[in-house]
Amino acid sequence: MSITLTVNGRKRVVEAEADKPLLWVLREDLDMPGTKFGCGAGLCGACTVHLDGDAVRSCQTPIADAAGKSITTIEGIGLNALGKRVQDAWVALDVPQCGYCQAGQIMSATALLKQNPKPTPADIDGWMSGNICRCATYMRIRAAIRTAAG
Ligand code: FES
Repeated sequence: MSITLTVNGRKRVVEAEADKPLLWVLREDLDMPGTKFGCGAGLCGACTVHLDGDAVRSCQTPIADAAGKSITTIEGIGLNALGKRVQDAWVALDVPQCGYCQAGQIMSATALLKQNPKPTPADIDGWMSGNICRCATYMRIRAAIRTAAG
């Protein structure tokens, strides 16, 4: 089926099966590899993107559910002021180790700060608990979120 969606502010039309995960439409059909495949089962958070402003797991989001909606990925999150602030904090604190999970971490962190601009450490731990980092950069992730919160 033909599906129209807006990705990082740009209207895109893709031909895909209705149940194809948004993750693979982004990576394969739209040539946007920033969103990562981790578990493919909704467990790790590596594939997190924003769908109409809410953090979702793109490996669990059929493309049909994204039709007509606005998607923000790691390639576009720096275009808004909050996303840019989060990315700058990530750079300033040198958060990544291998880096594989960090796109999903940044997308989740930005969604948190949008809903809760001054999260407590417990808020951060609760919100970010679904984003797994095999290098265990959790301390730096939490510090970067506090920095971005100002
Ligand atoms: Fe989607 Fe792990 S790849 S949650």
